[in-house]
Amino acid sequence: MNTQELPIVDVAAAFPGAPVPALAATVSDALQIGVIGYGYWGPNVVRNLHALERWNVTALCDREAAALKRAGRTYPGLTLTTDFHDLLRSPTLEAIAVVTPVWTHFELAKAALENGKHVFVEKPFTSTVQQAEELIELADRKNLKIMVDHTFLFSGAVRKIRELVDDGTLGSLYYFDSTRVNLGLFQHDVSVVWDLAPHDLSILDYVIPEKPEAVVATGGRHLNGHADIAFITIYFPQSIVAHVNVNWLSPVKVRTTLIGGTEKMLVWNDLEPDEKIKVYDKGVQITSGQGIYDLLVSYRSGDVWAPKVEQTEALKLELEYFSDCIVRDTPPLNDGAAGLRVVRLLEAAEESLKGRGAIVPL
Ligand SMILES: NC(=O)c1ccc[n+]([C@@H]2O[C@H](COP(=O)([O-])OP(=O)(O)OC[C@H]3O[C@@H](n4cnc5c(N)ncnc54)[C@H](O)[C@@H]3O)[C@@H](O)[C@H]2O)c1
Repeated sequence: MNTQELPIVDVAAAFPGAPVPALAATVSDALQIGVIGYGYWGPNVVRNLHALERWNVTALCDREAAALKRAGRTYPGLTLTTDFHDLLRSPTLEAIAVVTPVWTHFELAKAALENGKHVFVEKPFTSTVQQAEELIELADRKNLKIMVDHTFLFSGAVRKIRELVDDGTLGSLYYFDSTRVNLGLFQHDVSVVWDLAPHDLSILDYVIPEKPEAVVATGGRHLNGHADIAFITIYFPQSIVAHVNVNWLSPVKVRTTLIGGTEKMLVWNDLEPDEKIKVYDKGVQITSGQGIYDLLVSYRSGDVWAPKVEQTEALKLELEYFSDCIVRDTPPLNDGAAGLRVVRLLEAAEESLKGRGAIVPL
């Protein structure tokens, strides 16, 4: 146990819009956490937990012995096991991170909560809305925290975008249009919608200050029976429209989001090392005269600037914030309810895809 006094993350400054705790608490002990899943993403979670003073990552479970061997070489002090029940039974673990494929999230997160552990669970939260609702209810009843790994919400770029929406820089939003395409990595258990779209859906859930009303999705499956291309449109009140293009069959990698507002428009290119966000003072103004032929269209084309974007690793900030939420007993902004909102959009998109673009109201 680490008994030194650790600084608390300044949640208000780091995450505008997040619930701000009233008390200035301090942490005297690092929290103990175990991790289930050490495939592609698990090593990132373990690395960050290991580096943070506020966490003491002591146990790791993976059903593949080879994965445990890899982890053991990097972190010799870890208790390693192929049976997740060993983590559930541990009286010292206060939290469990579930970093396994989507279809296992419900069973593992439920078992962790039932055994009195707080849960950090990968995106997407669950495979169905019903499972998400059940986990939220269970966590409430047990007074435990759920944090869903919506990593991008903790990136400097998304926090900056949220700031530009909140402080009115962009004005009222017209649209959110994101493209997340590359060649592979094909998942054998889920479609591109459940693999890649959770990122964009969690981001738009965070930055658009309206609740979505309906979803329309089209796409195609070409190789393994799961959709590998999808075009998802999400309708909001006030004419805001969001569009998400996810594709595993693209020859190039693109990670670009356009957001248009009445006052400014922005482009976020996440592949840019610097200047990830560019804000354009561009827009269109229409004034009408007497008749329909008197519409006056004027275009505004002013400055472009690149706001400073914080470079701290998103997952590090997120895991630090998770310990903060537990210690201060405050709900994370990416709690079970946020996870549920994303799963609801995913389910609706899947249903619309099956209906070849049927409108699915939310
Ligand atoms: N937040 C992000 O940016 C991000 C990025 C990639 C993946 N993910 C998410 O992380 C999760 C894992 O994805 P991945 O790409 O690492 O998958 P993966 O298949 O590479 O790794 C999953 C690991 O979990 C282990 N596992 C599965 N079931 C288990 C069980 N019951 N008990 C113990 N171990 C078990 C497997 O042996 C494997 O090593 C998914 O939900 C995915 O969506 C999130």
